Amino acid sequence: MIENPFVVKGYAGKEFFCDREEETRKLVTRAIGGSDSSVISPRRFGKSGLVAHVLETIDNNYPDVDTLYTDIYATGSLNDLIDNLSSAILAKYPEKTPIGKRFWGFIKTIRPYLTFDQLTGAPQVHLDFVSSAQKESTLKSLFDFLDGCSRSPLVFAIDEFQQITEYPEENVEALLRTYTQNLHNIHFIFSGSKRRLMTAMFNDAKRPFYGSVESLFLGKLDRVVYGDFINSMFGKRDRLIDMDALDFILDWTNIHTYYTQRVCHNIFDTGIKHVTIDLAREVCNDILDQESFNYLQLREILPVQQWRFLIGLAKEETVTQITSNSFISKYKIGSAATSRLAAESLEDKELVLKTLSIDGSTYEVYDVFFSRWLERHCS
Ligand SMILES: Nc1ncnc2c1ncn2[C@@H]1O[C@H](COP(=O)(O)OP(=O)(O)OP(=O)(O)O)[C@@H](O)[C@H]1O
Ligand SMILES: [Mg+2]
Repeated sequence: MIENPFVVKGYAGKEFFCDREEETRKLVTRAIGGSDSSVISPRRFGKSGLVAHVLETIDNNYPDVDTLYTDIYATGSLNDLIDNLSSAILAKYPEKTPIGKRFWGFIKTIRPYLTFDQLTGAPQVHLDFVSSAQKESTLKSLFDFLDGCSRSPLVFAIDEFQQITEYPEENVEALLRTYTQNLHNIHFIFSGSKRRLMTAMFNDAKRPFYGSVESLFLGKLDRVVYGDFINSMFGKRDRLIDMDALDFILDWTNIHTYYTQRVCHNIFDTGIKHVTIDLAREVCNDILDQESFNYLQLREILPVQQWRFLIGLAKEETVTQITSNSFISKYKIGSAATSRLAAESLEDKELVLKTLSIDGSTYEVYDVFFSRWLERHCS
């Protein structure tokens, strides 16, 4: 089978990764220089890909520096976080390695039970605690362990970091800040997508992490650079893509990385050697057909005003004046207050993306395919 060069899940190496050179350089320089960073962007722009690329670049160029990655999206409590960090450490330093042996010795004292990830076979650590003091001291010990376990620096990337604000324990942010700020060997990259939560955490003077990191706001890939990348990915595999087909894909997907990758991936999968605009359109239609059921289900559960609000955004592509008479009456949203409430509620549900700019706030449907579907099927 020919390998599809348009990756839609995870990171497959620099060969399949477009650009982000400036961002990579910045993050590598900061981490190697000893400062912590945060990476913030809307969903599916390419944060996790960038972080993986940064860690790979460090692995390849700085043999004395260690790297560690974990994604804490699925954690819902301090206990989960401790399990997650322990599992990440164990995956990085298997039991047979000297560090792994020491880590295992430490973790055994807390009497863990292990399960194994069904897909990867990696061990998952689960710990039971009797008190919150015990949890807190274990969290501290994990960081102290990592800090002291080798003489080489460690770049530790924690993805979906905003998740810690959802835990029932209210002091996790403060604990993490306290435990991480005195470490000597560990430099962090915190990445996350809920802009409001992430920026509040790092830029609000009353919050523990205030001023502790340099934030990198990840934007879209450059249209020309991404176009060249797509062209060459097809070209290198004996395929030809017409310029108008390329332009169509970039427009239709709004250069939102995941969606552009998905369309290119599906086009590549057809096996057709000459990619025309008609083929690109056909593939996009197929994607919308496949997703249709999910979108119809969403219509069942959303209040009608919110549904109309989404149709309005999709038809207009982006909207700045969500309370203007013309927008409200054209899409029968009700009143300015309803429109504002719909925007807030849909933003919370991550169905609407709100972007701040000098001219005010711009709103669009978060999921590009959903937006195209609404635009086509709803009136
Ligand atoms: N620079 C890039 N070049 C090529 N593909 C990329 C690039 N950045 C990301 N991708 C691909 O796009 C998809 C989405 O990227 P990724 O998962 O990194 O986004 P994310 O911002 O972390 O999303 P989420 O917020 O959902 O976690 C992935 O399949 C990834 O492989
Ligand atoms: Mg991600």
